[in-house]
Amino acid sequence: KNSENQVVRPPVVTIMGHVDHGKTTLLDRLRHTRVSEHEAGGITQNIGAYQVRINDRLITFLDTPGHAAFSSMRARGAEITDIVVLIVAADDGVMPQTIEAIDHAKSAGVPIIVAINKMDRPGANPAHVTEQLMQYELIPENYGGSTIFVNISAKTGMGIDELLENIILEADMLELKADPKQKAIGTVIEARLSRGKGPVADVLIQQGTLRVGDPIVVGDTFGRVRTMTNDKGHQVKKATPSMPVEITGLNDVPESADKLVVFADEKTARAVGEARAQ
Ligand code: GTP
Ligand code: NA
Ligand code: MG
Repeated sequence: KNSENQVVRPPVVTIMGHVDHGKTTLLDRLRHTRVSEHEAGGITQNIGAYQVRINDRLITFLDTPGHAAFSSMRARGAEITDIVVLIVAADDGVMPQTIEAIDHAKSAGVPIIVAINKMDRPGANPAHVTEQLMQYELIPENYGGSTIFVNISAKTGMGIDELLENIILEADMLELKADPKQKAIGTVIEARLSRGKGPVADVLIQQGTLRVGDPIVVGDTFGRVRTMTNDKGHQVKKATPSMPVEITGLNDVPESADKLVVFADEKTARAVGEARAQ
């Protein structure tokens, strides 16, 4: 690996938390308030991940992984998440899936940013939630720890900018880098059979640059990248590290967490794909 070619890449963030603590509402808010500001004609949410721009920086949010998806990705060695945002409702506090999320993030070695949500609710008690989380070694700076806590309301938008800024700060500390010049490597977030397009895979690019026409093997499927569509629904010719894209051109539907690898030519890709499918 040539370290000279390593450049900063956007962080890949997964939002986790207990049922109804506000994951989807937060994702929706990020998508609409942030992304649509920069995209004429609004958003077509086509793929299970999307990028949010904050000033000149991008953050990639994974839209899909619930706990099961996160675990299965981890079990298969596809640790695609750089940062977990742990969302805890300020009026409900730590619940069983909050603890599960903490366990998943810790065993994957992924740093956690705490977002105490629903601060607009009359019963919001962030001090109590903080005390509860300290029992799980999530200690805020004012208690001598190093975990970032942000009070938010996904509903009103309160604290969302601060959350995004803290994600960028955490990403800077992690020094996330990738080499856009090498052959692309990626991971399937989800895949399906489209009536019009054939096999379709949403892929997160992790290394290198994927281009239309590249011969690829994805799990035990293979082909040549026919089209690539970004998170805004626009056709693109190339995809760089941390970018999610929907690709077509595979001979069959791969599985979530399958690895995408680029080969020098289609013949080799086919041979490798067919051998794996045996
Ligand atoms: P699951 O996907 O079912 O685990 O839930 P979730 O974590 O995605 O929660 P969701 O975003 O669906 O929110 C659950 C409920 O809480 C919805 O009725 C939301 O409108 C509400 N909610 C989410 N965030 C806030 C908030 O900041 N303030 C208030 N008042 N309500 C919120
Ligand atoms: Na819900
Ligand atoms: Mg949800």
